[in-house]
Amino acid sequence: MGILQVVAGPLSQQFSQLGTVSQIGVAIASFLFVAVFLNVLQQFLFKKPNEPPLVFHWFPLIGSTITYGMDPPRFFKENREKYGDCFTFILLGKKTTVYVGPKGNDFILNGKIRDVNAEEIYTVLTTPVFGKDVVYDCPNSKLMEQKKFMKIALTTEAFRQYVPIISDEVTSYLKRTPDFKGKSGIVDIPPKMAQITIFTASHALQGKEIRDKFDETLADLYHDLDMGFSPINFMLHWAPLPWNNRRDYAQRTVAKIYMDTIKERRARGETGAQDIMWHLMNSTYKGDVPVPDHEIAHMMIALLMAGQHSSSSTSSWIMLRLASRPDIMEDLYNEQVKNLGADLPPLTYEDLAKLPLHAAIVKETLRLHAPIHSIMRAVKTPMPVPGTKYVIPTDHVLLAAPGVSATDESYFPQPDLWEPHRWEKDSPLAPTIVRNVPSEEDDEKIDYGYGLVSKGANSPYLPFGAGRHRCIGEQFANVQLQTILAIIVRNFKFRNVDGSDKVIGTDYASLFSRPLEPAKIYWERREGCQL
Ligand code: HEM
Repeated sequence: MGILQVVAGPLSQQFSQLGTVSQIGVAIASFLFVAVFLNVLQQFLFKKPNEPPLVFHWFPLIGSTITYGMDPPRFFKENREKYGDCFTFILLGKKTTVYVGPKGNDFILNGKIRDVNAEEIYTVLTTPVFGKDVVYDCPNSKLMEQKKFMKIALTTEAFRQYVPIISDEVTSYLKRTPDFKGKSGIVDIPPKMAQITIFTASHALQGKEIRDKFDETLADLYHDLDMGFSPINFMLHWAPLPWNNRRDYAQRTVAKIYMDTIKERRARGETGAQDIMWHLMNSTYKGDVPVPDHEIAHMMIALLMAGQHSSSSTSSWIMLRLASRPDIMEDLYNEQVKNLGADLPPLTYEDLAKLPLHAAIVKETLRLHAPIHSIMRAVKTPMPVPGTKYVIPTDHVLLAAPGVSATDESYFPQPDLWEPHRWEKDSPLAPTIVRNVPSEEDDEKIDYGYGLVSKGANSPYLPFGAGRHRCIGEQFANVQLQTILAIIVRNFKFRNVDGSDKVIGTDYASLFSRPLEPAKIYWERREGCQL
């Protein structure tokens, strides 16, 4: 009796607890069922004829976030087949309208300032990382002035100085890195390319003083800044989470390093430098207002971060593509021998123009592996889509994905094939843009305040964007990537570890797409290697 009472007491409690738990479970399941039911019903019953079709989704708020996030290019292509070039999907509760193809690129990227806005979307992510009063933490007219300062600094004269700097950085990196010691070996290539990119970019764009600091403190600090760029920070940018605390500390510390350097350079009375910091120190806004030191510092962070992800990912893809096509690596080597001489003299800026296949490698790699797969804008006034009945309302976000047209069969024969020779005019795979659409030189030009840029309105190939937010780093990226490529080609042969022509998949988990890791390749020194 006593034992029964002892056992029966807790058992009945447990049963009643179980009952409560299962009641909560039933309540949640019912709630979810009703939410899903209403969400589906709404999609069928309340279609808005003046808005682009909505991608079908079961769950409210989550919408298509997961399928989009796993593989954005595949998401765009599959839904384009179902719904056409212009469609809307739910991204973290927000109605996001995608418009692909050259018309879509033009509609979004060349949208008028009263209609579309980038800073509202990006500022939560970029301002804590770059710092205040620059890029998306200021009126667009000020960003245009800042872009002008940065663009003016990237002159032919500057590039002439950069090529030997970049060549030396690559050579010295390959000489001192243990993974490249010996006659041959296997290396996980993306982390190496990330380091090569930051050393070359920091030295060329920010001067030797800053470059040297990357061997000490700056590399770790930039890594912490980088963590602030994770997609989750679109929602949690404000939260006192460990990575956000490290981001804020890194931002203050890096900005101080730049501001101290600016002061030292002024105090020294330095003259004739070609790095961007120097140009910014000598630039003035309209009305003859000098650029404040903290803004120079924040622009330096922005520039390095903007270039780092894109160039590092592109250079990794180049190396991985070459490992899958050793024949092309030989074509590149032969191009250098033929056009620069068998002794392969030190590379100059002028030499790059003699290496069209090297340029085509960058172009073709960006066609298939553009690091920025989604470009977003807030809609400020209802925007009628020309030639359709659609009007995009102001509670939508617009999303351009130039990568879709860059891999569209109507412009690029065998679009999924990485074939740099296709950029030769008489290649059977030559893009229709090379064959019969006006080239960028013939395209309509416009000045948004940072110099004339081509509108790119007809072009299905826009890895550097278009419009007022177009990249100002394009020429620098080309110089940097081609120089790194040329130095690596003259010293190494690559192939896949298993000798196949396979290429690793893409990691879309961060904001910029990049190769999945580890991504190992086999390397072998060339005869006559210059290292
Ligand atoms: C903007 C791509 C390298 C600095 C952009 C945009 C794209 C892009 C697509 C437009 C973004 C938008 O419309 O929202 C690339 C690629 C690169 C590269 C593919 C390398 C392969 C660089 C480098 C720098 C740089 C090396 C700096 C030296 C910038 C800046 C903007 C920009 C300042 C302007 C942002 C704005 O106006 O909103 N880039 N970029 N980029 N990029 Fe690059």
